[in-house]
Amino acid sequence: MYTQSMDVGPKEERKAVRSVEEAELEARFEARIDDGGFIEAKDWMPDHYRKTLVRQISQHAHSEIVGMLPEGNWVTRAPTLKRKAILLAKIQDEGGHGLYLYAAAETLGTSRDQLLDALHTGRAKYSSIFNYPTLNWADVGVIGWLVDGAAIMNQVPLCRCSYAPYARAMIRICREESFHQRQGYDALLVMMRDGTDAQRAMVQDAVNRWWWPSLMMFGPPDSESTHSAQSMRWGIKRISNDDLRQKFIDATAQQAQVLGVSLPDPLLKWNEDRQHWDFGPIDWDEFWRVVGGDGPCNRERLAERVQAWEEGAWVREAALAHARKRATRQEAA
Ligand SMILES: [Fe+2]
Ligand SMILES: [Fe+2]
Repeated sequence: MYTQSMDVGPKEERKAVRSVEEAELEARFEARIDDGGFIEAKDWMPDHYRKTLVRQISQHAHSEIVGMLPEGNWVTRAPTLKRKAILLAKIQDEGGHGLYLYAAAETLGTSRDQLLDALHTGRAKYSSIFNYPTLNWADVGVIGWLVDGAAIMNQVPLCRCSYAPYARAMIRICREESFHQRQGYDALLVMMRDGTDAQRAMVQDAVNRWWWPSLMMFGPPDSESTHSAQSMRWGIKRISNDDLRQKFIDATAQQAQVLGVSLPDPLLKWNEDRQHWDFGPIDWDEFWRVVGGDGPCNRERLAERVQAWEEGAWVREAALAHARKRATRQEAA
């Protein structure tokens, strides 16, 4: 009766009671996060935590799906059957990643239709890296090496994200991403070691074009990253943008030496004191321009994505009709 009497009391009183309850829930939520615990879909969570996760997980899902497009351009032009099979498998994996992530976002109470509508109408963002063109076959290898490589750096810490459905999706995704990185590096090694001078030049050209956009994948510097501090406190983000970027550069600079390519940064140099590679300034104006919609392929990617969605309508309708038929048959049996 106590609760009910509060529920039917004056508006201000109800509000005060709710806010006390909310304060308790929030304290319990914060304590669980501080203990390194996980939050499940049915657990209470602050609105802002929910919104942050929906934004991040859906941007991540969109990136997986839009990321299929630049590589999809090369399926018919892969140089051998083996490379074609590997590329098809990778692109299919990315589609799967998108689906796990949409499912994780849906557990937060946002429907897939809403998420896709935000993408197709240009309201939602996806990783800016996919707004750059793939000009030659070496680009496919460089995407695997650098873009999937940067994705792994970003994503491994997400396996410990405080929101459990996201963390679980990321564990599976990370296993596949490491295959993506290796297949890219392997394709480039073959071109560099067994290829012609022209093929080696293609690899170098692709590395020159993808290096800086790959570094931008870690997001703006910590000093300018608006969402980072809160996300770190909530255990959504575990390592800062700048630290992840440095980790990536340290790993990749060595891989470039083994590959026999140079990275297009005259200031890139091993720093004995820091035990890290120093690197030159990143063109953040370019980053914001591409994020803002004015990259080399923003319009093309979105148009292609919308077209793929529209042309796939009959598949979705057929799948639904089939599911309905099966359900009716099962009911009748
Ligand atoms: Fe992926
Ligand atoms: Fe990938």
